[in-house]
Amino acid sequence: MGVDIKIEHLTKKFGSQLIWGDVSLTLPAGEICVMLGPSGTGKSVLLKTIIGLLKPDQGSVVIEGVDIASCSEKDLYEIRKLFGVLFQDGAMFGSMNLYDNVAFPLREHTRKSESDIKKIVMEKMEMVGLIGAEYKLPGEISGGMRKRAGLARALVLDPEILLIDEPDSGLDPVRTSFINQLFVDLNAQTDATFLIVTHDIHSVRVVPDQIGLLYHKHLAMFGHREKLLSSDEPVVRQFLNAQTVGPIGMSEEKDADELAAEKDMELPPLPPIALQLEPSNGIPRKRQRPPGEWCRENGVVPPPGSFTADAEHGVASAGVATAEATAVAGVPPIQ
Ligand SMILES: Nc1ncnc2c1ncn2[C@@H]1O[C@H](COP(=O)(O)OP(=O)(O)OP(=O)(O)O)[C@@H](O)[C@H]1O
Ligand SMILES: [Mg+2]
Repeated sequence: MGVDIKIEHLTKKFGSQLIWGDVSLTLPAGEICVMLGPSGTGKSVLLKTIIGLLKPDQGSVVIEGVDIASCSEKDLYEIRKLFGVLFQDGAMFGSMNLYDNVAFPLREHTRKSESDIKKIVMEKMEMVGLIGAEYKLPGEISGGMRKRAGLARALVLDPEILLIDEPDSGLDPVRTSFINQLFVDLNAQTDATFLIVTHDIHSVRVVPDQIGLLYHKHLAMFGHREKLLSSDEPVVRQFLNAQTVGPIGMSEEKDADELAAEKDMELPPLPPIALQLEPSNGIPRKRQRPPGEWCRENGVVPPPGSFTADAEHGVASAGVATAEATAVAGVPPIQ
């Protein structure tokens, strides 16, 4: 069963450069959380702070009663055994083949025999679709394959907490869908707590239970998916819907003139909230809430057409669906 990660008043600087300040949120045990934010807002720094590779300037990250920010090296070593991490660059050892890279945590942290290790490594390699590439070096494979090898390595210790930095960068759309399904299935199977950093808006709409957005050196919002997907808060709305209209500009913030020019622009309606991906392995996810429950409990009216099978493609509220387009099951209309 996964564990809570309680982050309070976390602040990180490099020299005099503030990355983010006063970040507080709880990643609930067993839930899938996604962290979003424009490039350079410190998402990777946050993951590295959660696992204790970077020390925050203020605040705490408490896991099972231990504060990662201030605990001893010995406690940190123990707590790290709960984690599986996929770093943004894959962080493979360049001189080891994929098999040895994936086997590394098992050889380092367990006393398993080589035949047990082989079973686990091959199972995880199969899970991420890398059978046949075991003896290749990281430099001999594509970026997407390196990502998947990094994911296999993150999974070998059956972690309680999975931190995954941009699993989909460098992956084609079909593999991204497979990886999304794999996360949902793994979560159902293991109840681990997931924190995924991604820029893929489609994944954000269908995978997580909780969504957070880092923007302009602080946590702009963190909460249930239905809260963020129905939010009218300008930064959240702009980011989650990949719009150019809103406070975020090409170089992070728009200036006053740009914002004034947009003042009277009409925003397109919020797209309907899609149903979350269901596990394909027949195991229900313990922490998945019924669609619309959060909205009902909090008196929030979701965008029209939410929580229907069509909502995944924005069909209902975009108002551009044609009979022909919707007649072809699962094919979104051309916009
Ligand atoms: N070890 C470090 N020393 C100094 N500055 C750093 C270090 N690591 C990251 N930074 C700075 O922290 C800021 C946030 O970096 P980070 O990699 O966390 O961004 P990000 O949100 O993950 O961006 P992207 O979406 O492009 O991956 C950047 O300005 C980066 O230059
Ligand atoms: Mg990053």
